[in-house]
Amino acid sequence: MSDLGSVAWPPEPIRTKRLVLRTSEARDRAAYIELLASAEVHAYLGGPHPRDVLEREVPETPASRPGSFVVELDGAMIGHVELKRATEHRRPAALGKAEIGYLFLPHAWGHGYAAEACEAVLDWLDGALPGEPVVLTTQTANAGSMRLAAKLGFTEVERFEAWDAEQWLGMRAPATSA
Ligand SMILES: CC(C)(COP(=O)(O)OP(=O)(O)OC[C@H]1O[C@@H](n2cnc3c(N)ncnc32)[C@H](O)[C@@H]1OP(=O)(O)O)[C@@H](O)C(=O)NCCC(=O)NCCS
Repeated sequence: MSDLGSVAWPPEPIRTKRLVLRTSEARDRAAYIELLASAEVHAYLGGPHPRDVLEREVPETPASRPGSFVVELDGAMIGHVELKRATEHRRPAALGKAEIGYLFLPHAWGHGYAAEACEAVLDWLDGALPGEPVVLTTQTANAGSMRLAAKLGFTEVERFEAWDAEQWLGMRAPATSA
């Protein structure tokens, strides 16, 4: 994976109905470590990262790069949505495309926050890099993530086996101007 490319960064914070999406700050470090250390969050992502390693290795300002958005609800970080360039994807159909990933803290699941945040990030991309298709990879067993992908307009490209599980590769066509 590598950088998204030539986008103006950082953007102004994005405000949705209930959320603020912004670049990361030092005050997000604890929530970011929580997200990466959570077994529940990583149930379909190969398992959590050891907390002691995260405490040592997560930088003072975590995940600070173009395309990486902290999702804030009432002033606190509840999740992370990220767009990256899939330069090392296993599937040729995804290679080099923008890829979206999302991680939310379990207490924030089941409220539509992930959908609201991802829609805003995809809108941002449509403005920043018009005409870009976006890909998404998730385990087919990850029911919540599969539902979210469908809600966001991703359709199946293919299923494939990797990391000892069936994976789903979806794609969202770029927005077209009327
Ligand atoms: C994948 C993940 C982001 C989905 O989170 P989520 O909260 O279920 O997703 P959404 O934002 O789409 O919310 C949908 C749920 O909120 C409910 N909801 C409640 N209030 C709502 C509202 N005001 N608006 C919309 N939906 C609402 C919906 O009914 C739906 O419930 P359901 O799943 O029981 O059908 C979350 O499970 C997660 O972070 N998992 C761990 C990380 C992961 O696996 N990431 C995938 C890697 S690509």
